[in-house]
Amino acid sequence: MRRFTEKTALVTGGAHGIGFACARRLAAEGATVAIADVDMDAAADAASAVNDVTHEHSAFAVACDVTQRDSVEQAVAAVVERCSRLDVLVSNVGIASAVRFADTDDAEWNRQLDPTLTGSMRVIRAALPHLLEAPGGGAVVATASVNGLIACGGVAYSAAKAGVINAIKNLAAEFGANARGTVGADRGWVRFNAVAPGTTETRAWTDRGAEGEREMREFAALTAMGRPGLPDEIAAAVAFLASSDASWITGVALPVDGGLTVGPLAQVLAHDA
Ligand SMILES: NC(=O)c1ccc[n+]([C@@H]2O[C@H](COP(=O)([O-])OP(=O)(O)OC[C@H]3O[C@@H](n4cnc5c(N)ncnc54)[C@H](O)[C@@H]3O)[C@@H](O)[C@H]2O)c1
Repeated sequence: MRRFTEKTALVTGGAHGIGFACARRLAAEGATVAIADVDMDAAADAASAVNDVTHEHSAFAVACDVTQRDSVEQAVAAVVERCSRLDVLVSNVGIASAVRFADTDDAEWNRQLDPTLTGSMRVIRAALPHLLEAPGGGAVVATASVNGLIACGGVAYSAAKAGVINAIKNLAAEFGANARGTVGADRGWVRFNAVAPGTTETRAWTDRGAEGEREMREFAALTAMGRPGLPDEIAAAVAFLASSDASWITGVALPVDGGLTVGPLAQVLAHDA
């Protein structure tokens, strides 16, 4: 499948984990991909790794800190200057913390809310004028989380992810086909969707050593499918929502979670079967 031939995609937090998998997938399907990350060395390595696999020079690194408006605007401008268009935005940065709610002061609350919710909106706001010019319509896919749908722990992070999901719905309504009063126009509208990953095997867990690994496996064991997800499995859903295969889907938050959200009895029912 090459659903993104001639298209340009921008992936924030694209140097590692789920964002990197999204960059790989979009590039493999023909997109020119800007890997935008605060970790510029890792972003450059990620771009080389993508180009090694695709045998094209379709991925490149862009410095971007989603907590800084100037940085976000410069990153978007650099992509448009280089590619002359922007069709797809994967807004993927999110920061969680193990700090308990009772110990969460305003600074800690903002440390999670700012990159996860406000940062995502900063990127969308900067990209929007260009996405509205995308032939065939622009597409935004935000990486939310099951935390934005149900109680999974982490009050600030979860509130931020719930905020992302609601913002996506409102943006879908605001910038749908009627954005410029022309239903069925070739451009002038953007589809907004989110994925809500469950426990996914990235450095967010594995960098915490044996304890992170154990916690990841324990959480995953509670799901219908009993295992953590892989970044590529999230990327497949992101690519679908960003593609014309999802041409009549906007405003959804798609759980990609191995059945984490099917209900609390998933494992009991599995044992009874
Ligand atoms: N891993 C999971 O289990 C899981 C589950 C649900 C949702 N998510 C969400 O998926 C997204 C990606 O998570 P991941 O597990 O792949 O994480 P990761 O740590 O593997 O990758 C995150 C990337 O974001 C970059 N980044 C961090 N702060 C940034 C900033 N201010 N500006 C630009 N880039 C920044 C990092 O450098 C890194 O490349 C996040 O939004 C996260 O909340 C992850």
